Amino acid sequence: MKKRIRKIAILTGGGDCPGLNAVIRAVSRSAIHDYGWEVWGIEDGFAGLIEGRFLPLTIDKVSGILTQGGTILGTTNRTNPFLYAKRKGLKVEYKDVSKQALRFFRSGQFDALVCVGGDGTMSFAKRFSKEGLPIVGIPKTIDNDVPGTERTVGFYSAVHTATEAIDKLHTTAASHHRVMVIEVMGRDAGWLALASGLAGGADILLIPELPFDLKKVYARVKQRSSKGRRFTIIVVAEGAFPSGGEKIVQRKVKDVSQPVRLGGIAHWLANQIEMGTDVETRATVLGHVLRGGSPIYQDRLLATSFGCEATHRLAMGERGMMVGWGKGEFITIPLKNLAGGCRLVPKNHPWIDACRSMGAIFAEAE
Ligand code: F6P
Repeated sequence: MKKRIRKIAILTGGGDCPGLNAVIRAVSRSAIHDYGWEVWGIEDGFAGLIEGRFLPLTIDKVSGILTQGGTILGTTNRTNPFLYAKRKGLKVEYKDVSKQALRFFRSGQFDALVCVGGDGTMSFAKRFSKEGLPIVGIPKTIDNDVPGTERTVGFYSAVHTATEAIDKLHTTAASHHRVMVIEVMGRDAGWLALASGLAGGADILLIPELPFDLKKVYARVKQRSSKGRRFTIIVVAEGAFPSGGEKIVQRKVKDVSQPVRLGGIAHWLANQIEMGTDVETRATVLGHVLRGGSPIYQDRLLATSFGCEATHRLAMGERGMMVGWGKGEFITIPLKNLAGGCRLVPKNHPWIDACRSMGAIFAEAE
């Protein structure tokens, strides 16, 4: 028999995104209103669980946060409880501190933990769940790349921000007859570039799933110039790379489970295009702007529905799973079945076909 729930905790882990506060609000309100549970927040993701930093979440505390970007709980994408980096003078030592996190969880007398995060957070949730922690996961990331779900909180808002930026760059590109290269985040997946490129009417889309051929990019730019449409909009994912080449790494972050930070392809590409076509080209990197701002209504709906779904599932006695969205409905996926790594864009995705039907190209190598 599953223990009856009286008190739950919630944390947000990994990179922030619009809609995290909407999730915190939904979990807290539904837990308090529907079940009379006590709800506590854990500060800064798993770092707060390791250090026992908890704060009570009341109806008052979560009121007015639906529209706020970021997370009132704080977050980090640097803490791995199973390989925790501790500095000792100049040396860094790695320790498994998961037992310490479990001790804090038990001494707080929590009956369940809601983990809001991306693939990294879900991989930790999976391991803690195996160690006996009653967990439900809620997927979030602007990258939309969490395995097991077709949508993640934050994605729609980032697509909206990127699309608005593309619209603005369109008019200046047309006025100056230039090529505009717009770089968006997304790590190893092309979801954000694909969706914003389609919504913003890009002429060329470059995504990691389809390594590109520079010659095809040059040919399309020249063709557009010669046809009288003297500008070209290119949306490139930070993880895109030329066939036979490599992804551009901006920096490597020390002592973390995912050390590679991508970025810089737009500037490299803009140089290549100017040299290869003689058409004036500019690069814009949207970067962390994509993670900010108020969530748009699609993310508010998703965040609120995921949050309520998580508390209802816990109330029904379900543990060790992640809520998600698949084939047009809410689903749950057992954490033990979650694949590692990230969810890539399938080459036959309808958005890819729609781009091609619009006359856009991916410039993919043969
Ligand atoms: O996973 C979300 C994300 O914003 C990626 O799109 C990006 O590559 C990465 O995080 C950037 O991380 P950081 O916050 O360490 O700069």
